[in-house]
Amino acid sequence: MNVRRVRVPDLRQKKQAGEKIAMLTAYDATMARLFDRAGIDVILVGDSLGTVILGEPHTLTVTLEAMRHHTAAVARGAERALVVSDMPFLTYQVNVDEAVRNAGQLLQSGAAAVKLEGGRPVLDVVRRLVDVGIPVMGHLGLQPQSVNTLGGYKQRAVDPAEAHALIEDAVALEQAGAFAIVLEAIPSDVARTVTSRLGVPTIGIGSGPDCDGQVLVSYDMLGLFQGPVPPFVKRYADLATVVTDAARAYLEDVRTGAYPPARTPVAAPR
Ligand code: KIV
Repeated sequence: MNVRRVRVPDLRQKKQAGEKIAMLTAYDATMARLFDRAGIDVILVGDSLGTVILGEPHTLTVTLEAMRHHTAAVARGAERALVVSDMPFLTYQVNVDEAVRNAGQLLQSGAAAVKLEGGRPVLDVVRRLVDVGIPVMGHLGLQPQSVNTLGGYKQRAVDPAEAHALIEDAVALEQAGAFAIVLEAIPSDVARTVTSRLGVPTIGIGSGPDCDGQVLVSYDMLGLFQGPVPPFVKRYADLATVVTDAARAYLEDVRTGAYPPARTPVAAPR
């Protein structure tokens, strides 16, 4: 069956039609295929890869090579969803040429667009990427790659001056050509203002119900990640318990000899 791929302009049309956009992170082909089958619009190969998959304390050590590897896997699994890949720390901050080369490599690995963090300091990069045909999703509010400057993973844009600066950043990103903007951990009223000011969709995470779409880290909402999870995350499953129980049952079977049975089926191709 022919499946119609979600494309970058579809997101703006969804905003105009008042249809909410659902985005989840994925890091491998199997999970991407499951989310695709469920009808998720956008799959983000997030640099949360560093924390939820690689066990790092933050995202700063994620490399372009790792992102390329996981982007290629997700792209193999996602037939319908728009695949967006995060530009890791230091792959777009040094200069515009490097940013173009690195973003281009993420597209060559299978992403249809890239996401990068920041407002006015990254406008030149956003303009150039869009000019050369690389769609860019912005990311404002809590920016995990700036954790050392921000002093932790705290809510942003709480005071009016910062809220005002964020709104200006969002407008500037749209003018620079960003096709959507993630708003992470900002007050709902600020997210609502940004959403009403922009023609491009906002995708919220911990920023209230008025954004044009929502994103969650899949390992958080599936109940897989064992580290601290932000309070706004809704747990849609408890896969950690499912996995641990299955592993315990298997362990028990192996120890008691209940598995494998005496007449084991011959190997089948995977
Ligand atoms: O890396 C990531 O998973 C993200 C989401 C939290 C938006 O950037």
